[in-house]
Amino acid sequence: YSILVLHGPNLNLLGKREPNLYGNLTLDEINLLLIEEASSLGVTLATLQSNHEGVLVDAIHKAWGIHQGIIINAGAYTHTSVAIRDALLGVKIPTVEVHLSNIYQRESFRHHSYIAPVVIGQISGFGADSYKLGLMAIINYLHKLS
Ligand code: DQA
Repeated sequence: YSILVLHGPNLNLLGKREPNLYGNLTLDEINLLLIEEASSLGVTLATLQSNHEGVLVDAIHKAWGIHQGIIINAGAYTHTSVAIRDALLGVKIPTVEVHLSNIYQRESFRHHSYIAPVVIGQISGFGADSYKLGLMAIINYLHKLS
């Protein structure tokens, strides 16, 4: 399989951004961990971070026919973006939603995800491990499909 990992706005600041909430690892370190984990499982991984909603929408469109699964941390767009939700619906690529922090422990505006209803499932609150668990989840899901 080939899996696309999408990181939304402000996740490029990981490592320096609110480390109490988001941990000390940088985005590059998280991506490297994921790529290593994936390659040990024989899975190819592509990663992309953007602070722009349209770039994320374009990346989801371009994933069609190339990636069999998506892992997405849409950052704050989780709570605002009908466009990202519609893009995921449009390409119908199985997707796992991940969050470093437990969004349900935080401000009420973070409790609602526009993406959650259109993904297989959501992993929230395990720091960088949320991505690793997301990788396991999408691989197991695709494995059962085939
Ligand atoms: C986040 C949670 C969002 O509410 C926030 O806007 C982020 C990061 C997380 O990974 O915990 O940017 O998606």
